Amino acid sequence: MVADRTRRVEISGIRRMFEAAPPNSINLGLGEPDFDPPREVVAALCHAVENGGNHYGPTAGIVPLRDRVAARYADRDPRTTRQNVIITASGSEGLMTAALALYDVGDEVLIPNPGFVLYSPHARLAGAIPVPYSLTEERKFQPDLDELERLVTRRTRAIVINSPSNPTGGVFPERTVDRIVAFAEAHRLTIISDEVYDQIVYEERFASFWGKTDRVVIVNSFSKTFAVTGWRLGFLLAPPALAVELNKIHYHIMACPPTPAQVAIVAGYDAGDAATRRMVREFKARRDLVMRLLPSIPGVSVVRPQGAFYAFPRVDLGFSATHIASGLLERGLITTPGDAFGTLGEGHLRVSFANSRENLRAGLGIFREYAEKVTGG
Ligand SMILES: Cc1ncc(COP(=O)(O)O)c(C=O)c1O
Repeated sequence: MVADRTRRVEISGIRRMFEAAPPNSINLGLGEPDFDPPREVVAALCHAVENGGNHYGPTAGIVPLRDRVAARYADRDPRTTRQNVIITASGSEGLMTAALALYDVGDEVLIPNPGFVLYSPHARLAGAIPVPYSLTEERKFQPDLDELERLVTRRTRAIVINSPSNPTGGVFPERTVDRIVAFAEAHRLTIISDEVYDQIVYEERFASFWGKTDRVVIVNSFSKTFAVTGWRLGFLLAPPALAVELNKIHYHIMACPPTPAQVAIVAGYDAGDAATRRMVREFKARRDLVMRLLPSIPGVSVVRPQGAFYAFPRVDLGFSATHIASGLLERGLITTPGDAFGTLGEGHLRVSFANSRENLRAGLGIFREYAEKVTGG
C-alpha cells in the first residue's frame, strides 16, 4: 500500500528504548535539556498567544527573529543579513528541507558514522545514497581526512558535519573545520553543518562553518539552547541565492514556522544568554561527574566529551550494545545502544547527562552493578 521510500525507512532505535522501559526508570537516554526555558521566553510565548499572535506568518519566519539570528552570525561573516536566514519548524525540518533541496536521485552524501539518526534516512528519502565516514574512539571521534578523500566519487554531492556531535560529544577544532572546507571546495561539495549544539561546549572552542565558504548550509535549532524541544523551532543559514531555493522546499513542507514561538525566542535573545550559560555550566559539572564514574566501571573506556550532553563509552563485556542496553533497561536504567547511530556505534552506549547529578550517580550505580555481575567482579 505504501511507497517504496516509506518501506525503506524506520522510526529511530532511540524511541524503541523508551517504549520498553519499566516505570520509574532513570532516563539517561534523553536527547533534551532537563531545564525549563528562560522565564522571559515563557512569558513572551503566553503573551503572544493571549494577544492575537496565533496566525500564519511569513514562510521564512518573522523579520525580527531573522534579524536577531543574522546578527548572531555577523562576527563570522559581516555580510550576514536576514536574506541568509530561514526560520524552520525545528532543526529536524531544517535537515529535511536541506536534503530535499540539495540532493538529486543517485547522489552520494557523506554522513558521520556514528551520527545523528536523521541524516541517513533523509538522504534516502531524497533518493540519495548515504556514504558513512568514520568517527572512532581511537581518533577521539575526529574525522579522518584521508578516508574522506577515499570515499569521494564523481557522484558525491554533499557532506554532513555535526560538531558538537550527537552521539559522540566530539567537537571539531578550527583547523579541522578549515581542512573540511578545503576538501569540500576541491570536490565541489556542499557542506551541511548541523550546529544545533553550538552553545553547549566545554574546553574546546566551537568553530562554525559560517563565513568560511559559500558552499555551506548551517542547520541550527532553538530546541537545546533555550530548552524548548517541544516547540519545534530552528533555522537554516545559507548564501542568499541558495536560501531562496531552500525556502521553496521549506514552504512545501511547513508553509510557515509557528508564530508565537518565534515571538518568544526574540524575547529570549533580548534577555541575553545568562540562562543558557547557567545550563552549560551545570552540564559541564555533570560531564565531569560522569567522567569520574564511568571509567571505573568494568569493561568501560570513554573519551571526554567536549560538547553536547552525551558521553559515548565503549563497553566491552562480550555482548552487543543492544544486549547491554536491554540488561540495563531491565534494571531500570535507560541508555541508547550506540548502533542506533550507525554501524560504528556498535560496542558503545550513549549516556546522556541531561539529567540530575543524583540520577546520574544512581544510574551509573546500576550500570556498575550490572557490569560487575556479568564480569563476576
Ligand atoms: C545533532 C542533532 N541535530 C538535530 C536535532 C534536531 O533537533 P530539533 O528537531 O529538536 O530542532 C537533534 C536533536 O536531538 C540533534 O541531536
